[in-house]
Amino acid sequence: MNTLTSLAASIDGQRFWDDMLEQAKIGALTPRGLRRLALDDNDNKARCWLVDQGRALGCEAFYDAMGNIFLRREGQDPDLPPLLIGSHLDSQPSAGSYDGTLGVLAGLAVLRALQANGIAHRRPIEVVSWTNEEGARFAPGASGSSWFAGQREAASILAAEDDDGVSFADALARCLERLDAHQVNYRPDPFTPFAFLELHIEQGPVLESLGVPACAVQGIQGVNWYSVTVQGQANHAGTTPEHARRDAFTGAHALITALREAVAEHGESVRFTIGKFALEPNATNTIPQRATFSIDLRHPSAAVLAALDETFQRLGAKQWSGCTVELKASSRVPPVEFDSQLVEMLNASVKAYAPDAPQLVSGAFHDAIHLAHRCPTAMLFMPCRDGISHHPDEHIERDDAEIAVRALADTAGTLLGR
Ligand code: GLV
Ligand code: MN
Ligand code: MN
Repeated sequence: MNTLTSLAASIDGQRFWDDMLEQAKIGALTPRGLRRLALDDNDNKARCWLVDQGRALGCEAFYDAMGNIFLRREGQDPDLPPLLIGSHLDSQPSAGSYDGTLGVLAGLAVLRALQANGIAHRRPIEVVSWTNEEGARFAPGASGSSWFAGQREAASILAAEDDDGVSFADALARCLERLDAHQVNYRPDPFTPFAFLELHIEQGPVLESLGVPACAVQGIQGVNWYSVTVQGQANHAGTTPEHARRDAFTGAHALITALREAVAEHGESVRFTIGKFALEPNATNTIPQRATFSIDLRHPSAAVLAALDETFQRLGAKQWSGCTVELKASSRVPPVEFDSQLVEMLNASVKAYAPDAPQLVSGAFHDAIHLAHRCPTAMLFMPCRDGISHHPDEHIERDDAEIAVRALADTAGTLLGR
């Protein structure tokens, strides 16, 4: 007889993989990859697809005020706080089809196993897809999970605008209308889950190099995002002498050099990325009057991030090549350590399949970085080829994925019985 203790063995690996292939069609790029920007048409379609899968299993589907989607399978004691499993369905602009979706569909695989085998459980279980984890369209990322966990106010999330000037509020309103039309139940407010589990691709090279199919994750490094504007003066590129120029690109270049030097003082563990950069008016023969760029800064130590934050503010208050600067932090998310008991449970579940599995600290942020402030939280990683993600070449091996899902189900089975 299948019970919670055999939940891992009850996972239907073929069906899980079919789900992965099916979702990858929503927003598919040619010749490969995925584009499902938060709250765009494809992201909303993916939500409805997930709701349909849950309903076919007899689960109730809910959406909340941020468009987060929940599939609930009732427990024998409906009043107990549910175990929550999930991740996100949105993607980077030119992405693979595993980042985020893996964690949502791993949760769905657990629901399928419970349903197909008629396994009863004391505690309810909910599978969640969080809104705008990536932050590629609306910055910063992890909107749905940070709001749910009480880490960010709705007002600041709703005010964000994409590059076309569409507000998060407007895009969300269209998404919620669609969910309403799909007759998904509205459950506006956050709640406190019993625990949150998230399976994700590692997005780095370690597991692949060790030949290990999965591992428990101990925590996530901190991440600060900044938006920077360097203001100069536009003028003719051919006639304006050096002493009369206030070139916003030259100013940005000097500032960025100083920022990089400050970062380098903190050694190898710092991550500093300028992923967006724009010039105005953006003409070959006009000196740029304005440069705008983003900064993504990460480190496992809160103290190092705080020190760099102070340095960035000081450098941003100076003039560079005669240009003024506005340097604003759009988000500061400190590092987190996951719940040690949950990490140990996941570690034990993994070790049944991979005795040599290490434990890692995540370099990428995940929805779990916020959930950790709301309830006991932990994560599992699985390898991705060459450590590549945020790119259409992102790839995982089916056998590894199946093991990772079984390890997740093993810990989920224990928690559902508590
Ligand atoms: C998440 O996508 C991250 O940038 O870490
Ligand atoms: Mn992700
Ligand atoms: Mn990502």
